[in-house]
Amino acid sequence: MNKPAKNQHKLAFIGAGYVGLVSGTCLAEIGHTVILVDNNKDKITRLNKGQIPIFEPGLDELVTKNVKAGRLSFTTSLKDAVKNSEAIFIAVNTPPLPNGRADLSFVAGAAREIAEAADGYKVVVDKSTVPVQTGERVAETIKRYNKRQIDFDVVSNPEFLREGSAIDDFLQPDRIVVGVANKRAEKIMREIYSPIDAPFIVTDVKSAELIKHASNSFLATKISFANAVARICELSGANIDQVVGGMGQDARIGKHFLNAGIGYGGSCFPKDVSAFINIADELGYHFGILKEVEKINEQAKQLFLQKIEQALWVTKGKTIAMWGLAFKPNTDDMRNAPSIDIVNQLHADGAVIQAYDPAAQDTAKAVLGNKVKYIKDKYDALKNADALVIVTDWNEFKDPDWNKVAKLLHSPIIIDGRNMFDPKEMEKKGFVYHSVGRG
Ligand SMILES: NC(=O)c1ccc[n+]([C@@H]2O[C@H](COP(=O)([O-])OP(=O)(O)OC[C@H]3O[C@@H](n4cnc5c(N)ncnc54)[C@H](O)[C@@H]3O)[C@@H](O)[C@H]2O)c1
Repeated sequence: MNKPAKNQHKLAFIGAGYVGLVSGTCLAEIGHTVILVDNNKDKITRLNKGQIPIFEPGLDELVTKNVKAGRLSFTTSLKDAVKNSEAIFIAVNTPPLPNGRADLSFVAGAAREIAEAADGYKVVVDKSTVPVQTGERVAETIKRYNKRQIDFDVVSNPEFLREGSAIDDFLQPDRIVVGVANKRAEKIMREIYSPIDAPFIVTDVKSAELIKHASNSFLATKISFANAVARICELSGANIDQVVGGMGQDARIGKHFLNAGIGYGGSCFPKDVSAFINIADELGYHFGILKEVEKINEQAKQLFLQKIEQALWVTKGKTIAMWGLAFKPNTDDMRNAPSIDIVNQLHADGAVIQAYDPAAQDTAKAVLGNKVKYIKDKYDALKNADALVIVTDWNEFKDPDWNKVAKLLHSPIIIDGRNMFDPKEMEKKGFVYHSVGRG
């Protein structure tokens, strides 16, 4: 349990999305007064009615508790929020442009609006993931659009929370990174985070910006490395579980993020890797290894599709049960989910897809429309299917009633993109089981 902050601050968050809503709520939980701003009126109306617009375990209760305590509120008025706050966190989206660069128009828009509203000293904290040197641009924007010539500091405070475990990640992080230009801003940031027991890493602004892109790119590299080794396992008859098990025991390597499968997805890794490649290019460095990371990630999906085709011979006219659509378990986020490419290809080939996801049915509908039949129960999705394809490793898929699965499926074929089960055990149970990198 975190102790409440001794020095309580008035904070504003611009952007009440996955990051703004969780971070703002957690900072309210540790004693600060937080106003969350979003220009999506529908989102704010829902939040004011006590409805949480995203699926994130534990968030509902924490929001309700802090609203009740008077520490958390929601508004569409950026102006009021800025006027009433000392530190303003920019937590807006930074999606990829078609050329792979980060779209910074939302950050630029927020910076301008903050500048126009600010009437006294403010700390402007960039929490969105942005390319190195963005802080300088934010500072220029504030200078340009603030008519009162206010005093201000720009801070980079990248966020490392993971959807699905976001609250714990925020309140018990591995580290807090704060990039500052002076002691004044550092003092305020230290006070804001004081109840959180974690290494507090103070850097210059540019280095903090780089820490985020370099960290996500490194994690994506680990995943692609594991997928490349998995391919060698398949070609040579070795087993990826045993290989990464042996590698991960080396403390210098670590066992995390070495899971072979259908590759990384989500709202962060794909866009951050491509943004990092682009920033490097602009600065005059060719980040070749990251280009290869992207290529291997694409191949992972294609190889998985090939496995489905090989298992079914012809996919046209076949019915495929799909477990999972979200890019990972415990979230409803479909942004860049590997399921999108997999469904698109199977649908284009003429397969019928019956999918079940515990949380992402609605968000998936918005992306995949009627390419998929959305089924409300994991067993119902199996009815008369020619194979089960596993795309997301939700907990509820870990221990199904296998007799029921075998009875419901037309043929006992499983193609598992997340290596959830032991191939030998599955064989014993009578399934034809395909997974990734296991001989
Ligand atoms: N989602 C994650 O797991 C995660 C983790 C770490 C970092 N990040 C980074 O954090 C940032 C936010 O990501 P997210 O997933 O929360 O995005 P999101 O799309 O869920 O939320 C962004 C919100 O900002 C709002 N917005 C945009 N411009 C605005 C403006 N001018 N005024 C008010 N509201 C505005 C949007 O309406 C939206 O609700 C991104 O840079 C992302 O890369 C995300």
